[in-house]
Amino acid sequence: MGLMLPVILLLALSYMVGPCNCTGLCSPETYEFRLSKDGAFHFPVFHRKHPCLGLDDPVHAASVSDAGTVIGNDEIHEGKYFMAISLGTPAIFNLVTIDTGSTLSWVNCERCQIKCHNQSAEAGPKFDPHGSATYRHVGCSDEHCTDILADNGLPYGCIEETDTCIYRLSYGSSQYSVGKLGRDRLALGDNHTIVDDFIFGCSVDDIFLGKEAGIIGFGNQSYSFFNQMVRQTSYDAFAYCFPSDHRAEGFLIVGPYPKKLELVTPLIRGYGPRSFVYSLLLLDMMVDGRRLEVDRSVDKQQAMVVDSGTDDTFVSSPVFYAFAEAMASSMQGKGYYREYGLKVCFRSAGGEPVNWMGLPTVEMQFPRATLKLPPDNVFHQQSVDRLCLAFQPDSAGVPGIRILGNKALRSFRVVHDLQKMTFGFQARAC
Ligand SMILES: *[C@@H]1O[C@H](CO)[C@@H](O)[C@H](O)[C@H]1NC(C)=O
Ligand SMILES: *[C@@H]1O[C@H](CO)[C@@H](O)[C@H](O)[C@H]1NC(C)=O
Repeated sequence: MGLMLPVILLLALSYMVGPCNCTGLCSPETYEFRLSKDGAFHFPVFHRKHPCLGLDDPVHAASVSDAGTVIGNDEIHEGKYFMAISLGTPAIFNLVTIDTGSTLSWVNCERCQIKCHNQSAEAGPKFDPHGSATYRHVGCSDEHCTDILADNGLPYGCIEETDTCIYRLSYGSSQYSVGKLGRDRLALGDNHTIVDDFIFGCSVDDIFLGKEAGIIGFGNQSYSFFNQMVRQTSYDAFAYCFPSDHRAEGFLIVGPYPKKLELVTPLIRGYGPRSFVYSLLLLDMMVDGRRLEVDRSVDKQQAMVVDSGTDDTFVSSPVFYAFAEAMASSMQGKGYYREYGLKVCFRSAGGEPVNWMGLPTVEMQFPRATLKLPPDNVFHQQSVDRLCLAFQPDSAGVPGIRILGNKALRSFRVVHDLQKMTFGFQARAC
């Protein structure tokens, strides 16, 4: 009897990762956004190449009823996951980046007045506020306007003649979005879940590196998407698992989440002046079980922002150089040589394909929890025989900001429990 279960499980697993015949496995119950019995919002997560999405052009076929699905699509923005939203009346369909590192959601708006990034056709059409019967502008005395200005500051603010609230958001690497605040109807799933007066930014000027329609903010602020949604649930939390395997299905949950978790570490509120982000305390890192050799005078402990909107992980420069050093020596012993360049990359000495099973183990230690990273979460594969680290020194990103990026957490179940102030993770959860 003891042996039966694993055999059945193996069978079930091999069925799940095998080619999808799209009956049962890809039924609408797994495919669609839904409200769970405990009142949480469940968003299914797929890579665009997932068999359940079918064909080569899944997003194009998507309609309003597909809103609420989360899609990974490297052609729109590498390493990001996008939520499909439907906005306005009649509704337009947009793919926006899930960003735990920012608060206000925004979309590229029609009559982009200054400059706007080129949005890919797959990310949907630009939103036209004049074309939506339910759009309302937000005046300067609105509490959200004053909050946004307090958080993001001058010199932007109010156009008094038209009583229009102007926001400006800055992101890493000199990216930004400027626009006006608005409210409109946000529909998810089969139109039963509607936020009637969803507050968001209508962007009319931006410098943005991806081809998505905009951003959906999960930071902790009254006007973020997360706070607007979680208010309708019974528990202040969100959880997600973004699969690295194209064939796996992930999830995003807002509200109460299934409680079983392997590892839990305290969640720290904010990071410097950014009170709305979520941080963790990194104590140390290990390569093949050995601690990094960092100068004793350097404090290895450092807070890091958990940021789903950034792919790589950024650690302080002394920690990074010790890490790169330890990786290089371990990789050398495994038959890879280091290539010199801006990024830390390795190539197999004989040009043979990378042996993923044989790569070094990397651990990140947090209070009470050690994150053991599989090689897939540590390296980007550049070609059959070439790998680059998905880690960078903080000087290469937004100086002084350390980030636990999306790549490191791929395929982990990640829980931001704001009620208990804990952060949980569990490996290979999707
Ligand atoms: C956007 O697309 C247009 C038309 O294809 C092109 O002329 C322009 O250079 C692109 N802009 C950017 C910033 O890529
Ligand atoms: C979220 O924001 C509220 C209000 O500013 C604050 O009281 C709470 O501690 C924050 N929670 C987290 C996890 O940042």
